[in-house]
Amino acid sequence: MLEVIPTGAALGAQVRGVELRSVDDATFIAIHRAWVDHQVLLFRDQALSDDDLITFSRRFGALDWAPVQENGRRFVEGKPELYIVSNVLENGVAIGSLGAGELVWHTDMSYLEDPPKASMLYALEVPAAGGNTSFCSMYAAWETLRTSLKARCAGLRIKHDGTYNSGGYLREGVTATDDPRSSPGAIHPLVCRHPESGRQGLYLGRRRNANLVGLPLEESEALLDELWAHVDDPALAWTQMWQVGDLVMWDNRCTMHKRDEFDGSARRIMHRTQVKGEARPVA
Ligand code: OGA
Ligand code: MN
Repeated sequence: MLEVIPTGAALGAQVRGVELRSVDDATFIAIHRAWVDHQVLLFRDQALSDDDLITFSRRFGALDWAPVQENGRRFVEGKPELYIVSNVLENGVAIGSLGAGELVWHTDMSYLEDPPKASMLYALEVPAAGGNTSFCSMYAAWETLRTSLKARCAGLRIKHDGTYNSGGYLREGVTATDDPRSSPGAIHPLVCRHPESGRQGLYLGRRRNANLVGLPLEESEALLDELWAHVDDPALAWTQMWQVGDLVMWDNRCTMHKRDEFDGSARRIMHRTQVKGEARPVA
């Protein structure tokens, strides 16, 4: 029997009693419902091959190809949907992306016009300490924003930067820049309505090189700083402490996530998929 146990924090639930290797239609519907309701789901003690991970992810929709790894490799041979998040080196070459450093608050791939709606991260090897991943609710961020700040957000659009990933690495094929006015990226409404829940949330993407379209740079920076000061609040967040066999799936349309650093001599290997969004973000 599938059981959904809310974390008690602003978002997130653990789902028990499910083997993601074999999910029937009724179970899928229950998982989908829980995901829309709780924004982030944790499934423990899973035993998934890459094909199992891809098959389960596809229940939610077509998959996006993974971003190019920092080592320039496009993807895992034969599996372009798989993104490897790892600090492990093999013969001196990184097997994945994002190293062992801190990853700052972000939502995945929102520098695209049509960002993925969901990401799934599956833990194959985890360090003894560190490397925890926190999630924050952008519904709660919007709902708790003071009225005067909400009013200043009305009708605004924001550029989500495509220059750097959350680890601060330059993306493949992009020229380094720290000018938020000219950096590459996609423009989305600052406040979006979730197509499945109908709820409104703040849509910030990531801080670096973000730009509020049409505002003078100083005004854009000042308002973004105020919004980020509000959002970076443990009361809006829940932290996942990884165990091998954990699968966490999150909704990129109404959450952000960040990761603590960990000891670079320890091994951490995670496999990720990303599910295409059917609709671009709308106000
Ligand atoms: C990601 C990501 C966090 C982590 O895969 O999108 O941000 O804990 N990873 O590795
Ligand atoms: Mn991410």
